[in-house]
Amino acid sequence: MRFDGKVVVVTGAARGQGRESALAFSSEGASVAVTDILGAELEQTAYLIQEAGGRVVSVAGDLTDPATIRALVAEASDAFGGIDVLHNNAGVLIGGTLEETAPEAFERAFRVNCVTQLLTLQAVAPQMRLRGGGAIVNTSSICGLAAVDHMGAYGATKAAILSLTRSAARELAPDNIRVNAVCPGGVDTPMAAAAKQMFDSEAEFLEFATSRQLVKRFAASADIIPTVLFLASHDAGLITGASIPVEGGHMAW
Ligand SMILES: NC(=O)c1ccc[n+]([C@@H]2O[C@H](COP(=O)([O-])OP(=O)(O)OC[C@H]3O[C@@H](n4cnc5c(N)ncnc54)[C@H](O)[C@@H]3O)[C@@H](O)[C@H]2O)c1
Repeated sequence: MRFDGKVVVVTGAARGQGRESALAFSSEGASVAVTDILGAELEQTAYLIQEAGGRVVSVAGDLTDPATIRALVAEASDAFGGIDVLHNNAGVLIGGTLEETAPEAFERAFRVNCVTQLLTLQAVAPQMRLRGGGAIVNTSSICGLAAVDHMGAYGATKAAILSLTRSAARELAPDNIRVNAVCPGGVDTPMAAAAKQMFDSEAEFLEFATSRQLVKRFAASADIIPTVLFLASHDAGLITGASIPVEGGHMAW
């Protein structure tokens, strides 16, 4: 129960890693505020939390709209009295070579993956200051650490998150707010299902996703989220500005 009495905001919580994160924080005692652009799936996440006896509020909307973020912070504060943790998880995949990437798609991916991380940070940091501190976990990717074929544009958005993470850690340290990033390798979620479409077969995709890993297993959300909770917890009290790969050893070359 590391998050007993804590209030945790999870973005992109309608499915995949975000839903896993919201359920995990709740199971460890947190009151959870969730948001996503997929309203029906988000309600299902809220239902699952309530069914397990947890406390949750949800705000459906597009996170690139600052009004969604304002509503989310207001809901969390009104219902639970403040915010202690932010898991900046929402994101979109943009696949293909750089040569075939449409600038408009690249800009949209930057807005969803990166600008929203800035907007949420700006909205929650004042709330965390009122509580005497907090923790932010940003979701980057292995693609932010290394060049991954067909993921150049996506990787650029995820690399920017690593830089934002380091700068935010420096800026917010005086307020006792830690900021870290988690860098998953391939994870079996609806996003990965979309990536599969770029390959001729499931086997070809799995070979692409795991060939550079030392642990030859395609990850589940449950492989990633324990690291998010660790970074958000007191156990990681001395860790800030860090980017933690959770990728089966993909980077060990
Ligand atoms: N699946 C992978 O292989 C993988 C690997 C590394 C990093 N990641 C990152 O992990 C995070 C979670 O992704 P996932 O794998 O669970 O995929 P996912 O597609 O299942 O989940 C992403 C969630 O973000 C939401 N979202 C997207 N745009 C939004 C917007 N504008 N406003 C509000 N919500 C929005 C989606 O609706 C979705 O529920 C993402 O940041 C992703 O880039 C995924």
